[in-house]
Amino acid sequence: MTTNPTLNDLTHRAAQDRDRPAYGHDALITCDRLVRIFTTDGVEVQALQGLDLLVREGELMALVGASGSGKSTLMNILAGLDTPTAGAARVAGRDLLTMAAKDRLAYRREVVGFVWQQTSRNLLPYLTAAQNAALPMQLAGRTRTPRSRRAHTGRVLELLDLLEIADCRDRRPHQMSGGQQQRAAIAVALANNPAILLADEPTGELDSHTAEQVFAAFRTANDQLGTTIVIVTHDQAVAGEVRRTVAIRDGRTSTEVLRRSEVDAATGHETVVAREYAMLDRAGRLQLPADYTRALGMRDRVALQLEADHIGVWPDDSERG
Ligand SMILES: Nc1ncnc2c1ncn2[C@@H]1O[C@H](COP(=O)(O)OP(=O)(O)O)[C@@H](O)[C@H]1O
Ligand SMILES: [Mg+2]
Repeated sequence: MTTNPTLNDLTHRAAQDRDRPAYGHDALITCDRLVRIFTTDGVEVQALQGLDLLVREGELMALVGASGSGKSTLMNILAGLDTPTAGAARVAGRDLLTMAAKDRLAYRREVVGFVWQQTSRNLLPYLTAAQNAALPMQLAGRTRTPRSRRAHTGRVLELLDLLEIADCRDRRPHQMSGGQQQRAAIAVALANNPAILLADEPTGELDSHTAEQVFAAFRTANDQLGTTIVIVTHDQAVAGEVRRTVAIRDGRTSTEVLRRSEVDAATGHETVVAREYAMLDRAGRLQLPADYTRALGMRDRVALQLEADHIGVWPDDSERG
């Protein structure tokens, strides 16, 4: 027999809720009801419509979603290149809405690194891979003395080696393949040892084999350097390789897939089990997958029932006799 919670239980739980720590207090990236409205020629586009997202330190996660769903808008905000219209965005303890211009520059140089889809946007064409990777350190003023310059040359070579493009150190972008260019771009992004690496469709222009190698470089950075990484991707293969994939729909996070390895007790085989979750926002709003609601003919209104360990959702039966 299941017993439904009493009003007393619910009141008690509400009191517990009030004592809970603030939303995202321990996350490295916190987006709280983030809104970005673009106005062009008097026409408003709501690119982000109250997006909630938490990313923990050390995560390697993917963002997926249809074209125009707001992924790049979100990445530009997290990169400190654009500012939200409303809501809150905090990254590594910094408030992206109120950050002063000077702090924003330091943030872009030292806290986040980014890799874009267009290989040409990531690298300067007249510099070699090693020179490209050294540039962010020079811009941050970290190479003023001969000693620090030597240390940083060492770091550049280590990075290129880690990303398996040591042989490209003296090559300019046009002398590298698309995959090598993107790995050099990752080296540039990691040069100042950022807490976060953001990548917007970094494998979008690559074939699947090359994309695999570039993704391996992201994984290495995450494993070896502990960098928190957020990758926007259309590539199902990439999305399937991370532990957590968050889907964005119409400027909001909608569902999330978590994958974990399970060892079959009988056979000893390890399999990856993926499970899909719906996002529950702080107002209690839940987006049900369209194929679920369609299958049961649910629209406009559903019936809810609170049980001891779950909530039942039924098609609207109020019109029936
Ligand atoms: N600078 C801009 N000015 C006006 N509209 C924009 C701008 N950037 C993005 N948008 C609009 O915002 C929406 C989301 O775009 P975007 O974030 O680029 O989506 P995605 O990266 O998921 O394809 C789209 O409707 C797009 O046209
Ligand atoms: Mg985009």
